[in-house]
Amino acid sequence: MERRGIIFNEPSVVSFDYESSRIVAAGLDAHQMVGKSHKKISVVKPLKNGVISDMEAAKALLTYVLKKVDNLTSRELSNAVTVMCCPSEVTPIERDIMIELGKKMGIRDIFIEEEIKAGALGAGIDIFKSRGNMIVDIGGGTTDVGVLSFGDIVISRTIRKSGNYIDGEIIKLIKKKYKIEIGELTSEMCKIELSDLRENAPTVTVRYAGRDIVKGIPKYVEISSDDIREIIIPTYEEIVRLIMSVLKDTPPELSADIYQNGILLTGGGSLIRGIEDFIWKRIQVPVRVANNPLTCVAEGAKYLLKNRGDYLINPLQL
Ligand SMILES: Nc1ncnc2c1ncn2[C@@H]1O[C@H](COP(=O)(O)OP(=O)(O)OP(=O)(O)O)[C@@H](O)[C@H]1O
Ligand SMILES: [Mg+2]
Repeated sequence: MERRGIIFNEPSVVSFDYESSRIVAAGLDAHQMVGKSHKKISVVKPLKNGVISDMEAAKALLTYVLKKVDNLTSRELSNAVTVMCCPSEVTPIERDIMIELGKKMGIRDIFIEEEIKAGALGAGIDIFKSRGNMIVDIGGGTTDVGVLSFGDIVISRTIRKSGNYIDGEIIKLIKKKYKIEIGELTSEMCKIELSDLRENAPTVTVRYAGRDIVKGIPKYVEISSDDIREIIIPTYEEIVRLIMSVLKDTPPELSADIYQNGILLTGGGSLIRGIEDFIWKRIQVPVRVANNPLTCVAEGAKYLLKNRGDYLINPLQL
């Protein structure tokens, strides 16, 4: 990874054969099984709200992936320096679980860094200067807002509400409004296709397949972008409130820097149409989306590996 860059980039999903507990699929292949497999296969997402919720599944997934992409021997793994990234507000127990996962996998040298720190570096921001930068990472499980200066986090806040939450709310809304149940994959697709935060966004309608909850038969449902707005507007309003609460507690010198530099958005949730204007209209601070919002955390992690714990050495210049 340090020499080669990103070599595996797939969803953290793994599926097991119930009887033998052997892995049937991982990553994209397992993701396609969500809500579609039969009872002999269990499909597991080892991460929930940005942290490990199923240790055994997480270990199985990582072991499988490392073997598949690199065929690492246990000796190589044990000697590898490893960084794991997490939301900025995790409990000590959640941190310990990450370290324990590394140990269970035989990795001796493991350290934890915050995703927003890695994401800022991966987006090309020199966080090691005496300048304040605000990063907002809207991921699958969490939204994380932080201010960085001199190479570390000055203040941050996390809410466990982002992409997955929106997917779940879409399922509930469609069930209530149209009496049709759609699956997780369909709901995510519907979010990606129909989400638009622009004020005058045209209404778009797309037909999705689901199951009629009254008759139990398969049925199409026409979902409109206005339906999706009912969910995304309040969710992104909440994200704006989170940003404001962090700004309110940011020391004034750093506030001034943020005003000049603008806010950097990362994570899949920043790919939603109209997000820059949506935030600008509410807080009048310039906003830009990273060029690589889905990969900047992984890309930034390699810089953190280089200057582990040394906040004043700029790894971008090493
Ligand atoms: N174009 C898009 N519009 C809206 N949401 C999107 C888009 N593309 C991806 N997403 C959503 O982004 C989320 C994944 O983002 P990301 O990969 O940054 O999360 P993560 O790093 O896995 O999660 P976390 O940071 O919470 O641990 C998913 O919920 C996905 O549906
Ligand atoms: Mg993330």
